[in-house]
Amino acid sequence: MKNKKELYKKLMSVAQKASKNSYSPYSKFKVGCAVLCSNGEIYTGTNIENASYGLSICAERTAIFNAVSNGNTKIEAVAVYTPYKYVTPCGACRQVISEFTKNADIIYNSITDIKIINIKKLLPDSFCLKS
Ligand code: THU
Repeated sequence: MKNKKELYKKLMSVAQKASKNSYSPYSKFKVGCAVLCSNGEIYTGTNIENASYGLSICAERTAIFNAVSNGNTKIEAVAVYTPYKYVTPCGACRQVISEFTKNADIIYNSITDIKIINIKKLLPDSFCLKS
């Protein structure tokens, strides 16, 4: 478990780095995300907003779509970082995460430490077409 926590802290530092590229001139709420895939690859994303607000996308979905675009559909862990307070993924992102894993740890930051919660707890009974 200690090794897992160290790994997740590293993943969080990658998410923190990604948050620096946040394009959020409207909300001014920077978010960064790092997705760890089953082959060990890490993909990052940030929130990207638009003057037409509804077209904005969260950091988590940017990171997941980045992973999938690079051929990785097996998600092991998702770290979400924001400098202001902690965030857990929004409802839409929880559903998108659930598409690619039923058992991933979600890591989010608190002021002093990281917190870990499983996607099963964040979105029980997620919608899926396959059984
Ligand atoms: N946002 C994320 O990137 N991830 C979340 O989990 C929650 C919200 C973004 C969307 C928007 O750019 C800004 O944070 C404020 O809602």
